Amino acid sequence: MEKQYLSKTRKVVVIGAGFVGSSYAFSLVNQGLVNELVLIDANKEKALGEALDLNHAVPFGDPLTISAGDYADCKNADVVVITAGANQAPGETRLDLAEKNIDIFKKIVPAIMESGFTGILMVATNPVDILSYITWQLSGLPKERVIGSGTILDTARFRYLLSDYFHIDPRNVHAYIMGEHGDTELPVWSHAQIGGVPVQKFLNGVEAPLHPDMQRLFVNVRDAAYQIINRKGATYYGIAMGLVRLTRAILNNEQSILTVSTLLEGQYGINNVYIGVPAVINKDGIQRIIELSLSEKEQAQLLHSADTLKFRYPEKTK
Ligand code: 2OP
Repeated sequence: MEKQYLSKTRKVVVIGAGFVGSSYAFSLVNQGLVNELVLIDANKEKALGEALDLNHAVPFGDPLTISAGDYADCKNADVVVITAGANQAPGETRLDLAEKNIDIFKKIVPAIMESGFTGILMVATNPVDILSYITWQLSGLPKERVIGSGTILDTARFRYLLSDYFHIDPRNVHAYIMGEHGDTELPVWSHAQIGGVPVQKFLNGVEAPLHPDMQRLFVNVRDAAYQIINRKGATYYGIAMGLVRLTRAILNNEQSILTVSTLLEGQYGINNVYIGVPAVINKDGIQRIIELSLSEKEQAQLLHSADTLKFRYPEKTK
């Protein structure tokens, strides 16, 4: 049952063979999720080197073809994932990358579309919310088919840290980070549950936003990337697995709820902004947005996050 999908071509193209792109490719190979994988990079030798290395892993896993290619390969891809662009240097915020990465996307996105691509475009490059919006605009694809990785990783960090604190399997921790994938993101404490029980009950009745340990825990979620970048220069394993999770939800038509960056059109009182919210993901991309009833404080934080992003949109796209 599980491997039924292997009869159909499942093709993914990864644009950007840096740390994130190659970790994502490696995780895809590991999980046997696709049967054709193409790597594209401005540095063709780098893409070729990664493809060669990855091919040597194939005999240890499920069969698939891996190659270094070019934009024409996007034509019949089910999913194209953009990871290319400049990364944060220590001390830089994600938003600081906006201008240079928008310029890079102005070349990449039209090249993808010129191939005749009709699949689903995933964006992981930072600032991911802004670049997802730009990608949606440049591609002309329906909004459902342009998905940013959004707060998928922040939500994973949140669930991991809660699981570590309460000594419960993270798969039993249901809690979201919403908003910008960045400094204005927010923890949705009002819906944070462990095994169906509100987190507050595990805190002897103290509301999570008022509990000093939970405040510290969220700061560690929000600032995780800075902590990692200061130590090892970049983050890639967590986001790579997040992108694989998203790819799996699309290719297997899972109807999974994941916190991704998508276009809001009135949901949460926000319009014309790509931002991280829980959404149902299936073979068509974003099937629908989940609208939680947020606390007053959470709602205000989300609006602030949306305003922060909108403020950084290039003038003519607003
Ligand atoms: C991360 O959160 C840097 O956006 C990247 O790990």
